[in-house]
Amino acid sequence: MSKMEQTLSIIKPDAVERNLIEEIKKIFIEKNLNIKESKKIQITKDEAAEFYKVHQSKPFYNDLCSYLSSGPIFVMILEGDDAVSVNRKLMGATDPKKAEDNTIRKLFGISIDKNSVHGSDSLENAKKEISFFFKS
Ligand code: CMP
Repeated sequence: MSKMEQTLSIIKPDAVERNLIEEIKKIFIEKNLNIKESKKIQITKDEAAEFYKVHQSKPFYNDLCSYLSSGPIFVMILEGDDAVSVNRKLMGATDPKKAEDNTIRKLFGISIDKNSVHGSDSLENAKKEISFFFKS
């Protein structure tokens, strides 16, 4: 049984910089993920550190936070049947080199850091990540 869900998607600085917002939005819309809300913003490194707190013990944490705050990002609430897993399938593996053909990261990702998109990894995190960017 599929269920209606919301998830958070971020188009990261590398993809915003290359004007890929519309192309990536089209991929979501074609797969029946409705873009409920969206905005282009730039966050501070402190905000990025808060957002990526789950990764604080990882060796790449500092670079990750610098990177997400290095330029404008485009954040979206995606809504649809099984939105969390549908979005993760569309993104592909974290490392673009390992991502399946036709996934967003395979098509557009540059490296494991500049992997073009972020998506919530569970429904629980989706709720937290949505409320981080969109106050209701
Ligand atoms: P994202 O889905 O945004 O979640 C955390 C990010 O850390 C991930 O995408 C990658 O861009 C980045 N990252 C950098 N190095 C690694 C790594 N070794 N393993 C996982 N993620 C990494």
